[in-house]
Amino acid sequence: RDRQPIVAIDGPAGAGKSTVARQVAKSLGLLYLDTGAMYRALTWLVLESGIRVDDEPSIAELASRSQIQLSTGDDPQITTRVWINDHDVTFAIRSLEVTAMVSAIAAQPYVRQELVKQQQRWGLKGSIVAEGRDIGTHVFPDAELKIFLTASVHERAQRRQQDLKNQQQPNVSLVQLEQDIQERDTRDSTRVVAPLQKAADAILIETDGLGIAEVTARIVSLYHQKLSVSR
Ligand code: CDP
Ligand code: CDP
Repeated sequence: RDRQPIVAIDGPAGAGKSTVARQVAKSLGLLYLDTGAMYRALTWLVLESGIRVDDEPSIAELASRSQIQLSTGDDPQITTRVWINDHDVTFAIRSLEVTAMVSAIAAQPYVRQELVKQQQRWGLKGSIVAEGRDIGTHVFPDAELKIFLTASVHERAQRRQQDLKNQQQPNVSLVQLEQDIQERDTRDSTRVVAPLQKAADAILIETDGLGIAEVTARIVSLYHQKLSVSR
């Protein structure tokens, strides 16, 4: 094989993908790719440009001429720094407005085609941990290690609430957070193109009651197992 290994991590909102993927990448010396940040950046631009969410041709056009850049630094508070057409949108893409809209835009076939093309270009040489919804099923179907991370809706909503508190953002009720997560899960899993789905060869990790360090250690150990077997 003419590339270095790839780790694919998929799962629903709040399963711990970003946090864990970044840690796994760090401990294995691989690059970290947050694909959700790309869909969020495009969503931010759509809102900023005043384009309607159902105006697919205009969004397609916007997607094809937009430049997204990502970088991972050492600040534990910032999983990925994100720019779109040179606007720093690192914080703006985490807003409630973007979060509410992103699934609708990520469901559009042309949007996916454009962003997946870019993800595959970044992964050409391997040596990455990529995280999202369709990494193991569509973006890197030949990834050496595929993980599907989940947790109950209740646990994921609690994690989100804690995130808001830590970031000193206004509180949102647990019931509301559960409902938002449920809605996004449904939209992501029922869309026509590349829905959120566990790849047949992905390893399922249920993270209820598991800490970040524990989940990370499990994935790192699976990586070593897989790579020593395939060698
Ligand atoms: O961090 P969180 O789980 O809230 O979401 P994210 O990973 O930032 O992804 C935001 C949204 O982008 C998801 O709800 C999906 O609609 C979309 N997405 C996708 O469709 N495919 C991916 N590979 C990654 C994200
Ligand atoms: O990327 P995704 O939406 O899947 O989740 P995340 O943003 O990485 O994680 C959501 C929150 O849950 C973060 O504040 C993590 O620190 C926390 N978390 C946790 O408490 N326990 C885990 N096993 C994984 C994540």
